[in-house]
Amino acid sequence: MATHVTAVINQKGGAGKTTLAMNLAAGLAQRQQTVLVDLDPQGSARQWASMGSEPYPAPVKQIVGRWDTATLHKNYKGYHHLVLDCPPSLDSHASQAALRACDVALIPVLPSPVDLWASLRLPDEIEAARKENPGLRAFIVLNQLEPKSAISSAMHHALADFGMPVLEATMRRRAIYRGAALEGVSVYQLGSRAAPAVAEIEAIINEVLAS
Ligand SMILES: Nc1ncnc2c1ncn2[C@@H]1O[C@H](COP(=O)(O)OP(=O)(O)O)[C@@H](O)[C@H]1O
Ligand SMILES: [Mg+2]
Repeated sequence: MATHVTAVINQKGGAGKTTLAMNLAAGLAQRQQTVLVDLDPQGSARQWASMGSEPYPAPVKQIVGRWDTATLHKNYKGYHHLVLDCPPSLDSHASQAALRACDVALIPVLPSPVDLWASLRLPDEIEAARKENPGLRAFIVLNQLEPKSAISSAMHHALADFGMPVLEATMRRRAIYRGAALEGVSVYQLGSRAAPAVAEIEAIINEVLAS
């Protein structure tokens, strides 16, 4: 069985990597065997999953020491989906190894040009990783969109300069995403009040799997 690997990556902290990774893995786990691998030494995904009043719906693991694509597939064979929550640094071994191991890289960015400029090295790093991982696909995921406010034209220009495809599916700024983290669960476990957030994550999953 082939394992599909999704890396959630951006050198910028606070962009929504862990939020996207935790909810993405929970959504994928409803479909097929999924494991979330916390690559951030800060361990926020593991901490998140350990806090819950109910169990987080996928195992959350950690890899200690150096690893490569073969190690990853060996360690997690039997899983259909592997979601990698990367640390906020492109120079780390984890981020470099993740870009070489993943089928899809998802790059959450806040909808401000300033935030995107902080990530300008990413397209070069993705190009470099493609030399060893030619099938790598990468997409920007706009996160924390304000309800009803359009993306500014400055942001459209910044995205065009960035030169990376942008998923049509986005995540709005929603208290329920913070609530899920506080409660140590995913939005999938929070009932009807989380339905709009679940629909966003489902749309992201469907778009990525169809890409
Ligand atoms: N769509 C969203 N709506 C509301 N809060 C969000 C959203 N995405 C992320 N957050 C909050 O923003 C903060 C940073 O997100 P996090 O996922 O930890 O980023 P990263 O892992 O990239 O550092 C967290 O407090 C998180 O709860
Ligand atoms: Mg994080």
